[in-house]
Amino acid sequence: MLELIALPLAILHFAVPLSYYAYMKREYYGKPWDIEGGDVELSAPKLSIIIPTYNEAALIKGKLENVAEQDYPSDKLEILVVDSASEDGTADLAEMWAAEHESVNVSVLREDTRKGKAKALNEALKHISGEIVIITDADSKWVGRDTLRKVAKYMSSNEVGAVSCVKVPEGPGMAGIESGYREFYNVLRIAESKAYSTPIFHGELAAFRRELLEEVGGFPTDIGADDSHTATLIALKGYRAITPEDLLCREAVPRKGYASWRIRRAQHLIQHFLKSVRVRGRAPRIFRMILGIEAFLHVVNPWLLALSAALLLASASGSWFSMALLALGFAAFPYRPYRTWMAAQAYLMIAFLRNLRSKEIVWEKQVKVG
Ligand code: GDD
Ligand code: MN
Repeated sequence: MLELIALPLAILHFAVPLSYYAYMKREYYGKPWDIEGGDVELSAPKLSIIIPTYNEAALIKGKLENVAEQDYPSDKLEILVVDSASEDGTADLAEMWAAEHESVNVSVLREDTRKGKAKALNEALKHISGEIVIITDADSKWVGRDTLRKVAKYMSSNEVGAVSCVKVPEGPGMAGIESGYREFYNVLRIAESKAYSTPIFHGELAAFRRELLEEVGGFPTDIGADDSHTATLIALKGYRAITPEDLLCREAVPRKGYASWRIRRAQHLIQHFLKSVRVRGRAPRIFRMILGIEAFLHVVNPWLLALSAALLLASASGSWFSMALLALGFAAFPYRPYRTWMAAQAYLMIAFLRNLRSKEIVWEKQVKVG
């Protein structure tokens, strides 16, 4: 009997994401952008780049080099490193770099104690003057010297309130698994953006119209996914929050602690979705659908699989059908996309449970190679 409940649960678990993926890919992924922009060449907006750092001594110089390489008018660019009491000299290194590169407008803001990324960002907001605020993690790189020009181009449309990038994973070790996961998600991010907006942004490049950022009260400090949540609030206000396919960024993948890194990020996304689905806004219906499905996929869907597996295990001894279904579930493991998916489900479930104990607003630093 139990298997008659287990089977539909398992089908639902796989059918929802696969149908959503197929639908979004067919309907939106290949569509041209329907965004009308102004002329960026005529009047480049002033951009403020904020780099939050905590113990990034190994990467901060390379990061500053990468930002400084951008071919954006230098008088329209300011860079602010906001450091939260790093113990490895990150702030000193950033200051040294600034002194060696006088042509680049870089300053360093030091916090006395570490209170988390979002609080540091909110502090940084008080010290900048750009029309567009761009957050970028120290452990990330932008692909292409025209990244900022592209951001400015998308932002020149009044419809667009926030812009992020598409992620290309980098680094030894786990990058293979990470890239399998990215293929599926990148298609969704782009398709959601073309449909209206995506509720998932990336810390490698998260650009916001400053006035909208202020309207939503700055970055949320009670949950972890500062970038995704802010973008979603802006989308709910009726502005597009997009990840265009020609804006690429790389992120260093940790060589150790990969699982705990994935779990902590999943914790933050779950916090973000639980908070976002309760916000009423005036975004079009398609975005409410996107937000609803993504929330379902991150919060509820993994548990359907667990429940199904538990029911099959409980009935396996007396049912050939349950045995066969379980065997099928295990036999599929050599197939990489399946394995990647299963790992993601496990991370989401562990993350859900860990959220009951701690929200990880101030998180452990993973060792990465950029
Ligand atoms: N100033 C400051 N204060 N910066 C911090 C702090 C802090 O307490 N904690 C982390 N950072 C900086 C890091 O130095 C890095 O530049 C950036 O914030 C992101 O931190 P990571 O440790 O690399 O986080 P992640 O990449 O695993 O986390 C991802 O998910 C988060 C939300 O779940 C990123 O996309 C983050 O940007 C995002 O907030
Ligand atoms: Mn990172």
